[in-house]
Amino acid sequence: MAQTRRNFLKNSLLTASAVAGGTTVGFLGARAQAQPDLLLKPALTEYSFLPGILTRKLFSYNSTGPAPVLRARQGQPFHVRLENALPEETTIHWHGLRLPNAMDGVPFLTQPYVNRHESFDYIFTPPDAGTFWYHPHCNTLEQMSYGLNGVLVVEEETDPGFDQDIALNLRDWRLGSDGQFIKLYQARKSARSGTFGTVKTANWQENPHYEVSSGGLIRLRIVNSDVTRIFKLGISGAQAKIIALDGYPTPGQPELDQQSVGPGQRMDLAILLPGEEDREVTLINYSSSTPWTVSTLKTRGQSLKRDLGDLRPLPANPVPLPDLASAEHIPFEFTATAESAPKSGFCGSLGFSFWAINRQPWPGVSPDPMAPMAELKLGKSYIFSFINRTPHSHPIHLHGLSFTLLKSNKRPLAPLITDTALLLPDEQIDVAFVADNPGDWLLHCHIIEHQKTGMSSFIRIT
Ligand code: C2O
Ligand code: CU
Repeated sequence: MAQTRRNFLKNSLLTASAVAGGTTVGFLGARAQAQPDLLLKPALTEYSFLPGILTRKLFSYNSTGPAPVLRARQGQPFHVRLENALPEETTIHWHGLRLPNAMDGVPFLTQPYVNRHESFDYIFTPPDAGTFWYHPHCNTLEQMSYGLNGVLVVEEETDPGFDQDIALNLRDWRLGSDGQFIKLYQARKSARSGTFGTVKTANWQENPHYEVSSGGLIRLRIVNSDVTRIFKLGISGAQAKIIALDGYPTPGQPELDQQSVGPGQRMDLAILLPGEEDREVTLINYSSSTPWTVSTLKTRGQSLKRDLGDLRPLPANPVPLPDLASAEHIPFEFTATAESAPKSGFCGSLGFSFWAINRQPWPGVSPDPMAPMAELKLGKSYIFSFINRTPHSHPIHLHGLSFTLLKSNKRPLAPLITDTALLLPDEQIDVAFVADNPGDWLLHCHIIEHQKTGMSSFIRIT
């Protein structure tokens, strides 16, 4: 197995370095030389989260603050050049996108990591519209906790007709009272539900206020990019419908009451704003013992007099339907483990193993990692059972593919299509998909401390 693995890697590294670098002319030739649609240059930055205090040593894809909201179009090629200006290596993973494996941004598995002052061209055509996001997949706990991530909107081919479209990127920061970073995790918490931040923000601000048109119908795109917190979100002061979860249109567009959104997950809301001016609509998190306001919308101007009846369902994304009758069934058990620390320090290791998938704790990023946890045949249908044998919740994310939720042993589940399933304590969720995207795809918990202390693996589709 190790030998095959090495050969495979040699090939994939060759492929990847031919694509890497704006000036490198590889076999991609004209495409690699083409001007990118945009340049992302992650670098160190400073920012004021707390009044009058500058937080230093942040990482961002933007030198002056939070990363830009990227906009791609469904079915249109998208070309981003990563130019690494960080003091360490990095990559970009496009969370939730069904893209070619070489563009998936996982060091060693799909590409070499991008060193300081090097660049890498990500070129892909998003097949699905919706709300996605991007983040590094290298030294992930530090790089994400220091600020690296951004929202990626893939626009529908036809305009869905909202008066405004607002993206909210939710994340916490572990800052001391001096505004500087404190230790990013506490091991005893990593072995439970994770270590929470101390400053809670949306778009890097505490309870940011946005002006919206009175009587307007708006789309609010919420991305949970936090490394730990599972939100439970509700709206006060307006009517809201959930129009998409994790990028995929919801059947029946249910009214929002309180919806859980785990790390990595997204929720798109359609909100009908009050017709009067100066009214406040608040997004509230109910998952903490004291609910708190995440963001506030304030109405302005004459009423646009829109109606929830104006709302059309979003077009379905072209995800192939699995054939449940012929599907092969593969269980994945998520457990705690007592095994010792991971061996490798590539791309950041926390030095502990607390978690395992099918009894195997991920040994860390390495040029010769473990074998795939499952080998799948291209084009075949599969049912994965995600079995949580722990008293904690785990948002389980699969790269490169979208799956349909089939059933849970604990609750009724709508047949949502997603890339991240929030597994409740002791829950089993069955999901199904067609293995239509060849390559090595990570499967991991998106509570990053869990991922980095063992709850990660990968599958192979050939
Ligand atoms: Cu957003 Cu491997 O993750
Ligand atoms: Cu987890």
